[in-house]
Amino acid sequence: MPGAKITALGCYVPPRVLTNRELEKMVDTSNEWILQRVGIRERHIAPPEMATSDMAVLAACAALSQRGISGRDIEAILLCTVTPDMMFPSTACLVQDRIGAKGAWGFDLVAACSGFIYGLTTAAQLVKSGAHKKVLVIGSDTMSRIIDYTDRATCILFGDGAGAMLVERGDPGEGFVDFLNEIDGSGGDALKMPAGGSRMPASAETVAKRLHYVKQEGQAVFKYAVRKMHEVSRDLLDRNGLTARDIKLLIPHQANLRIINAAAEKLGLSADQVVVNIDRYGNTTAATIPLATRDAIETGKLKQGDLVMFVAVGAGFTVGANLWRWAY
Ligand code: UT7
Repeated sequence: MPGAKITALGCYVPPRVLTNRELEKMVDTSNEWILQRVGIRERHIAPPEMATSDMAVLAACAALSQRGISGRDIEAILLCTVTPDMMFPSTACLVQDRIGAKGAWGFDLVAACSGFIYGLTTAAQLVKSGAHKKVLVIGSDTMSRIIDYTDRATCILFGDGAGAMLVERGDPGEGFVDFLNEIDGSGGDALKMPAGGSRMPASAETVAKRLHYVKQEGQAVFKYAVRKMHEVSRDLLDRNGLTARDIKLLIPHQANLRIINAAAEKLGLSADQVVVNIDRYGNTTAATIPLATRDAIETGKLKQGDLVMFVAVGAGFTVGANLWRWAY
């Protein structure tokens, strides 16, 4: 069986920065509270004319140009998002057309903050099975479009951004090592956007009640995230006969610095084994993993041959962890 390796990474964040100080003027919050409770200093916000597919295309093109290939070389596009341009057609279709991935197939993958990990998992299977040689995984979310900027408990958390990784056929045993993913729908009410689907279609009433925005029971999600980030990471290491010392880096979903620190401590990881950039981007949902990976590469923390673990917990609930040997 061939291996599946990540061979390129491209990211995009819109230039406009929304600081904690600005949020202080919008809702009853403070820079100190946000830093202490969540660890965010600023986040990037897309301009009104920019949608999820636009950021996805920019991230995808950056990955393609890094690898020196064109859209025509891509066989499948997995577009991970909870903020598609529209209900249908899929954002994957919009991106396929714009990057010229003629003949490719693909779909939108809805797994919220675990989206990118589910995308990587799926791409690895498509490549390892021999079905495809080049699959593009894109995480892109314009969270600012579904955030209620009158709700201080959620509006401070999220930012916009996109990241893309190219998963390619490798030699047997190269790249992808293992995954452990799990969904738990019993937690679905804790984090959701209630209206706009078939259960509660858009109406004047749903708009008036602000039901097209993210609603979160913060404490419930926090507790679940701390427990599951640790459990899924530990179980994935265990079943591969590994311990925390064997991995070079943990690249976790960036939702709250306290969640990351608690999970890392329980796993017995040292601070230099954990990638954190939530201070600059906030929670960009499906884009946090590629954005954090880019930082790890640019700061020289992640190098060819390193064993890296990605982990996330998100709305659904969705839980996922991947082990990869970094290939470039
Ligand atoms: O990526 C998707 C998954 N999402 C997550 O992982 C998020 C998980 N949850 C969290 O990160 C945290 O629960 C939050 C950051 C959302 C909230 O932090 P918390 O420490 O759990 O605060 P809390 O909800 O228990 O609220 C404590 C207090 C409350 O005031 P009272 O009732 O004690 O007077 C809140 O009203 O903090 C208040 N509060 C705020 N105060 C200032 C909530 N938001 C804010 C705010 N500024 N922005």
